[in-house]
Amino acid sequence: MAGAILVAYGTKHGSTRDVAEAVAEALSELGLAVDTRPAGLADDVSRYAAVVVGGALYTGRWHPDALHFLRRHKTTLARMPVAVFGMGPRTMDERSVGDARAQLARALAKVPEVEPRTIAIFGGVIDPDGLRFPFNRMPASDARDWAAIRAWARETADAFGYGKAASEAGDPRSELQQTHR
Ligand SMILES: Cc1cc2nc3c(=O)[nH]c(=O)nc-3n(C[C@H](O)[C@H](O)[C@H](O)COP(=O)(O)O)c2cc1C
Repeated sequence: MAGAILVAYGTKHGSTRDVAEAVAEALSELGLAVDTRPAGLADDVSRYAAVVVGGALYTGRWHPDALHFLRRHKTTLARMPVAVFGMGPRTMDERSVGDARAQLARALAKVPEVEPRTIAIFGGVIDPDGLRFPFNRMPASDARDWAAIRAWARETADAFGYGKAASEAGDPRSELQQTHR
């Protein structure tokens, strides 16, 4: 599979952008071409080979830029490999992650045309200084697990058909077989 991957994100306070950039960096380290863009500004999706969309969860809802991105491009995205992530519980305990997963699933159910190959929930960031009352009373926390984020990016590259499938596609023998068909 050839062509660049788009990593699009919806963020309010920036932590989801940081994660999108880490995903993009991990994909680049595999030798893949990657563009990272705010989901609200990402257009011309059809020129990409695959798309990763991430968004923060706020009060049970996936960031509107991420959801609108899926809606806006659903016809194109339905025909290409897509991966999705959501941010982010304060701790990665089973219940918090399960709640976040259900919130993300509710958003994805609104765009059934798009069927992500991988879906992840990553821990989020609370920076009370940037929040209004009463949220500025929350303790500061950062539950992002950078190793897990990079591992998911590599898993997603596999699910997109890069790696083994890509090297097989470049194998001259498979080209020969295709020529004979
Ligand atoms: C007011 C508020 C509501 C939130 N609601 C949720 C939520 O419903 N589910 C969840 O998993 N995380 C929730 N979070 C955590 C955010 O998703 C987390 O802070 C995330 O890292 C924010 O991303 P951003 O920095 O890209 O905006 C909430 C955070 C705040 C401040």
